Amino acid sequence: MKVLITDEISDNGLLPLTEDPRIHIDKKLGLSIPELHKIIGGYEAIITRSGTLVDKALLDCADNLKIVARAGVGIDNVDVDAASSKGIIVVNAPYGNVNSAAEHTMAIMLSLFRNVPMANTSLKGGDWKRALFTGCELKGKTVGIIGLGKVGGRVARRCRAFEAEVITYDPYISEKRADDFGVKLQPLEDIIRFSDVITVHTPLNDETRNIISSDSFKGMKDGVVIINCARGGIINEAAMLEALESGKCAGAAFDVWSQEPPKTDVLQKLIAHPKMLVTPHLGANTFEAQKNVAVDVSKEIVNYVDGRPLENA
Ligand code: MLT
Repeated sequence: MKVLITDEISDNGLLPLTEDPRIHIDKKLGLSIPELHKIIGGYEAIITRSGTLVDKALLDCADNLKIVARAGVGIDNVDVDAASSKGIIVVNAPYGNVNSAAEHTMAIMLSLFRNVPMANTSLKGGDWKRALFTGCELKGKTVGIIGLGKVGGRVARRCRAFEAEVITYDPYISEKRADDFGVKLQPLEDIIRFSDVITVHTPLNDETRNIISSDSFKGMKDGVVIINCARGGIINEAAMLEALESGKCAGAAFDVWSQEPPKTDVLQKLIAHPKMLVTPHLGANTFEAQKNVAVDVSKEIVNYVDGRPLENA
């Protein structure tokens, strides 16, 4: 089986493939769309992260493709319907990077609360300013979590460890699961109305795109803080910019963008805003998580070659 890798994937995690003599891997990063379209016909499997768009146009050129393996949770960059209609299996790695994403959420949330990036830049620039960087504690704040799945649940536990009160909106989970995380299920309106911090942990789909809109901001507490370590577009980015500019929102931390790399005017302004803490989609970027997801998708490809059932198709 010929496997094409188009995004940065941990070599350690690929051992199940590299050690298997039936499998040949080509790692080709940074291909243009025409280049990818030209070569995809020569491969039976492709391994990607979020950097490769596996859309119908690509799949139409993929005459021999059997598996699209997404080394991560989100499959929003894969046209699953188009793949299924061609009999191409889509697998993901739903568990390997969830801890990494939860920890990054806490990292950017706490860094924003304590002005860590700004204070770091200031001291390295030769200043000694303390009062300017006085921050806030998470203890006693109400954290509203939208989406209590594998990442949201872990964020809930971690926020409770910091003695925050956690409320959550997730129409797909039971009271029992919320109880297990020690959090209260609430309607979305209440998350909007009562939270000091709102953090989103849903996939990006028609139901969640712009779930935080300019109307939502109107109903929020003054000085609310917004975190997005899930997917760009769940929070409307133009509305986010407006809320920062008007002072409605005290600060925001985003790891993900509706366009990656972010180039539009709105995204450039959002990134440049002084109350905005930003990272370039690093939620899953730990050595541990990258190894985990690479192992998971590699094992799925070996399962396919062996004719065994796939676990995460
Ligand atoms: C995910 O969906 O698991 C991550 O966004 C993966 C990535 O970093 O590409």
